[in-house]
Amino acid sequence: MTVTIRQVGPCFAGEVEGIDMRRPLSKDEVAAVHAGMDRHAVLVFHDQKIDDAQQLAFTKSLGEIEHAIGASLRAAADQRLPTTFADVSNLDRDNTPFARDDRRRLFAIGNRLWHSDSSFKPVPAKYSLLHAISIPSKGGNTQFADMRAAEETKAEVEDMVCEHSQMFSRQIIGFTDFTDEERERFRPVRQCMVRSHPITGRKSLYLSSHAGGIVGWPMQEARGFLRDLIEHATQREFVYTHKWRLDDLVMWDNRQTMHRARPFPAHEPRDMRRTTLAGEGPTVAQAA
Ligand SMILES: [Fe+2]
Repeated sequence: MTVTIRQVGPCFAGEVEGIDMRRPLSKDEVAAVHAGMDRHAVLVFHDQKIDDAQQLAFTKSLGEIEHAIGASLRAAADQRLPTTFADVSNLDRDNTPFARDDRRRLFAIGNRLWHSDSSFKPVPAKYSLLHAISIPSKGGNTQFADMRAAEETKAEVEDMVCEHSQMFSRQIIGFTDFTDEERERFRPVRQCMVRSHPITGRKSLYLSSHAGGIVGWPMQEARGFLRDLIEHATQREFVYTHKWRLDDLVMWDNRQTMHRARPFPAHEPRDMRRTTLAGEGPTVAQAA
């Protein structure tokens, strides 16, 4: 089957036809998906009735997997899924939604802030692939912002380096009760503020709500500046809103976009499973 990709409305995202993730991809299909990602940065695949093994096989056909280790507050004993998946659901091990005041749920509310996945890791993620297994009756959309768009701003901040940590994004929503073990695990890492795409050469602002400092700047000034940058980069004309259908798989390039989840009723299950492709290296040297 030939792969076709059409742009979704006036936005940058692309909708893909001609890929069936239940079967292994041909070389040409892999190349078409990568070319689509280079161009659109977000690709939507509808009606993918796949199980976890098929999602994993599809992901691996595109590159090397990033394992989900140490990024959430789920203890090893409450994991629903193996480390090849990031569990983006609101579900406990027995598949019941977390209580409204569950610490794991409150931490995950940080995903409602604009971010780029794993920007808090020394080697941040390349692509994320999210598959919708169950969706709430309302809300729960995911929004994407095209970080290639803000042309003038990119030149202005070209040489800046940020410090990213999940503690910074959680501070924004008032989640501050970290244990000593979590503080150690969530130590800030450095990322450059402008990235160049290795194939297209296009530059992107590399921002995330995990960014809580700029190297060489007073913290308060950096936070204000970062907030302004995110506001500018996420203006309506740069944003695609994905309204989930069951069996959608959406893939995005964390190097070229930010995303955020939208609220949904706390008592309804939202089962979303993410596989992640590893980035090719650090964006900047880490502090000693
Ligand atoms: Fe995310």
